[in-house]
Amino acid sequence: MEARREGFGSRTAVILAMAGSAIGLGNIWRFPYVAGEHGGAVFVLAYVLATVLVSLPVFVAEVIVGRRSRTNAKDSFSVLTGGKPFWKAVGFLPVFIPLLIASYYSVIGGWSIEFLIQALKLAFINTTPEASTEIFTSFIARPWLPVVLHLLFFLLCAFIVSRGVKNGIERFSKITLPVLFVLIVLISVYSLTLPGSKEGVAYLFKPDFSKLSPKTFAYALGQSFYSLSLGMGAIITYGSYIRREENIMISSAGTAVSDLLFAMLAGLAIMPAVFAADIEPGAGPGLIFQSLPYIFSKMGIQAPVLSAVAAILFFFTIIIAAMTSLISLIEVGTACFVEKFGLSRPAAVSIITLLCGSAGVLCSLSFGPLSGITVADKNIFDIFDWSASNVLLLLMSLLVVIFVGFVMKKRDVRDEFTNGGAFGGNVRMFDLIYFLIKWVAPVAVLLIFISNFII
Ligand code: PHE
Repeated sequence: MEARREGFGSRTAVILAMAGSAIGLGNIWRFPYVAGEHGGAVFVLAYVLATVLVSLPVFVAEVIVGRRSRTNAKDSFSVLTGGKPFWKAVGFLPVFIPLLIASYYSVIGGWSIEFLIQALKLAFINTTPEASTEIFTSFIARPWLPVVLHLLFFLLCAFIVSRGVKNGIERFSKITLPVLFVLIVLISVYSLTLPGSKEGVAYLFKPDFSKLSPKTFAYALGQSFYSLSLGMGAIITYGSYIRREENIMISSAGTAVSDLLFAMLAGLAIMPAVFAADIEPGAGPGLIFQSLPYIFSKMGIQAPVLSAVAAILFFFTIIIAAMTSLISLIEVGTACFVEKFGLSRPAAVSIITLLCGSAGVLCSLSFGPLSGITVADKNIFDIFDWSASNVLLLLMSLLVVIFVGFVMKKRDVRDEFTNGGAFGGNVRMFDLIYFLIKWVAPVAVLLIFISNFII
């Protein structure tokens, strides 16, 4: 088995692939609007704290489960417990959750393709905030085009996954991740020259503690998990491709730092634009699609070429960032179908495409023909996002830390974390990380999980 398994080729490849999974719509699309809905800078502060104290330990725990078991996310718990029925059952979660997320994630990928097309057609040269909001809302309500673009987006990512871990995923992330960073830096530097930039920066970094509420923490932790791809088996799966000689702490911290940095850069790129366009920061999921076109158009009055280029680069950035994340979601199920049922990669990927493609169609239609179907004011798309981000991934993360903290032997955890004592830094850090995994993370996740239902 071990000999047949593919893996990542180097430490850089590990970090780039993991950061590719982490950096995505969560950073560019979700972070700014969730921060906008939950108090701006106080949310950012809670988010950074949550990442360092809770998400990073959970990340390490997932990598440990993956690398120790050397198998797909579904079987990893079972392999490590010698087939205990409860943990065998838990294994279904990391197959189900990524499928759920992949379905609606790809819909937003489709929206980004449409906006790239519009940018290429120079549609944002002359528009008002109302007009760009209208472009967005009327587009997502259309029955066909968003569905077709969602399927196209999914197929692109599925194709890369079908090419394998090294030739597909690793190669793609190695090229795209550095490009992403360059692009987001360029866009945020530009954004900082806009008229509303001071307000935007203050909104992100100057906390107004009167806006702090228990909800701020709940959403900050949910966002941090989502952004680091935790609680859905993606990191367990990628962890299982990490070679024995790599340092788990470096890979994990490297990913967390890149992800935080990217979220901040995305915030700096987007918030000034939101204020310059006079859009409510709590406008919800359409935030970036509504604020940015207006900015591009404003800029277009003085510098049409620069504006067109910025618009094209921005939507291109979103597409690439979303692709590397969707790829990791597809890989979770693929690894499982290949290893569990002996399917070929293309066959496994095709099944997943069929499942998520169809579920995604429902999510897409929930902004148009199916908008009447709601539960507690949430349409199908919102239900997918809410149940995955606010419920299931917290539950799964809780199970992972309980597993590493209470079910696995401490000796084994230490052995995996320190590579049998080979890494001195990790040996010194072990007690702290173990404490965070075993006590801090479960308590924090449990509190937030419960708070979701009572606040
Ligand atoms: N972390 C990704 C993002 O920030 C989303 C994602 C979640 C990807 C889970 C893979 C697994 O967009």
